[in-house]
Amino acid sequence: MAGLFITLEGMDGAGKSTHIPTILQLLASGGREVVSTREPGGTPLGEELRELLLHREMHVETESLLMFAARAEHLQQVILPALQRDAIVVSDRFTDASYAYQCGARGLPMHKMQQLEQWVQGELQPDVTLLFDVPVEVSLQRLASARTPDKFEAQGAEFFARLRSQYLKRAADYPQRFRVIDAHRPIEEVKKTVEEIILSI
Ligand SMILES: Nc1ncnc2c1ncn2[C@@H]1O[C@H](COP(=O)(O)OP(=O)(O)O)[C@@H](O)[C@H]1O
Ligand SMILES: [Mg+2]
Repeated sequence: MAGLFITLEGMDGAGKSTHIPTILQLLASGGREVVSTREPGGTPLGEELRELLLHREMHVETESLLMFAARAEHLQQVILPALQRDAIVVSDRFTDASYAYQCGARGLPMHKMQQLEQWVQGELQPDVTLLFDVPVEVSLQRLASARTPDKFEAQGAEFFARLRSQYLKRAADYPQRFRVIDAHRPIEEVKKTVEEIILSI
């Protein structure tokens, strides 16, 4: 596949959305088509599933299956066609988030997640994953002053701690794909790091 698949990961409040405009602008200046999308969501059906996922309580297995149902639609309708026509795809979250939230924070056994991943994605993986990393308290503080929390954002510090450690574990397990960004710095400094990474890609 010719395109480039970039994913943004990190806890709620880490700063992903804040830096998306910079990332898109910089990538677009290279002249290639850039597709900006997000998970859960990214398609009309996926956005409907997002509403359920972010606001309805459900068993972690149900949650994982719905996430991957949305992801299958997203891949087939948006991501794969874009990569096939040589575009750069930037997705605000992807499968690393499922490992972090459903396995790390909510306890789904890893082998079940691996089965879903294999089934829906086959061998497809992001080319580069930017992990916005902040201490748990920072994430919670930013969320408290930024917005009304969804189901995941309303969880406490222990949930967030499990989330963060699973994200960092994945970054350590896949060092060739992950770029870990210290996002506990002023926005301008984080932005500089993000720009350097994008230019290096
Ligand atoms: N480096 C930073 N320093 C201070 N506040 C930040 C920083 N990055 C983001 N924020 C603020 O934190 C909140 C959450 O940021 P956001 O980009 O929405 O995070 P995410 O998309 O990862 O959940 C927003 O109010 C944002 O302005
Ligand atoms: Mg966001």
